[in-house]
Amino acid sequence: MHDVAVLVGSLRRDSLNLKLARALAKLGKGRFNFNFAELGDLPIYNQDMEADLPASVVRMKKEIAKADAVLFVTPEHNRSIPSVLKNAIDWGTRPWGQNSWAGKPGSIIGTSPGNVGTAAGQAHLRSVMTILDVILLGQPEVYFVSKPGLIDDKDDITDDATREFLQGYLTRFEAWIDQVAQYEARTKRVA
Ligand SMILES: Cc1cc2nc3c(=O)[nH]c(=O)nc-3n(C[C@H](O)[C@H](O)[C@H](O)COP(=O)(O)O)c2cc1C
Repeated sequence: MHDVAVLVGSLRRDSLNLKLARALAKLGKGRFNFNFAELGDLPIYNQDMEADLPASVVRMKKEIAKADAVLFVTPEHNRSIPSVLKNAIDWGTRPWGQNSWAGKPGSIIGTSPGNVGTAAGQAHLRSVMTILDVILLGQPEVYFVSKPGLIDDKDDITDDATREFLQGYLTRFEAWIDQVAQYEARTKRVA
């Protein structure tokens, strides 16, 4: 069983990305525990607050620390990272020397109703997470184009080919988490 901290880059109640994340959680039942990190109560990052870290920040950093892996499920906003997610990422790197992301196996996926399917936003996020030392799964990329009914009210994927593709994705992610754990056990972090 793999514990995964899931960061959804949308606070919207009817978020398509939250829906996709829930569908994946259901699809991966028995193999993964998806723990959804609360990002909505994190204050806007302000270095002055680092002297007395807000409780919501401490909570999020603990959730990441105990997770075997991190999964970002996010829309793109103006072809980039939604501010709610960037804010969480920045808090996760602080205070200096306490980067919660370092050494975590990770994956980035996302959905939008548009044909680009979050590809541009994911590319920005990928470059940020790489320098923060999240060890990202390369393939398969998931640029999920949301269509009405593709995920039903019970969070089941209604299309066979899409379900199989996402099952394959989860299998790769699971193997990736194990592989990175072995690599991390053999090496010392330098920063
Ligand atoms: C501020 C903002 C910027 C957006 N920029 C993009 C964009 O660059 N590309 C895109 O495909 N959709 C864009 N959209 C539309 C989102 O893909 C769409 O609202 C999607 O449903 C958001 O994901 P969510 O349902 O998980 O909240 C934008 C939406 C908002 C609110």
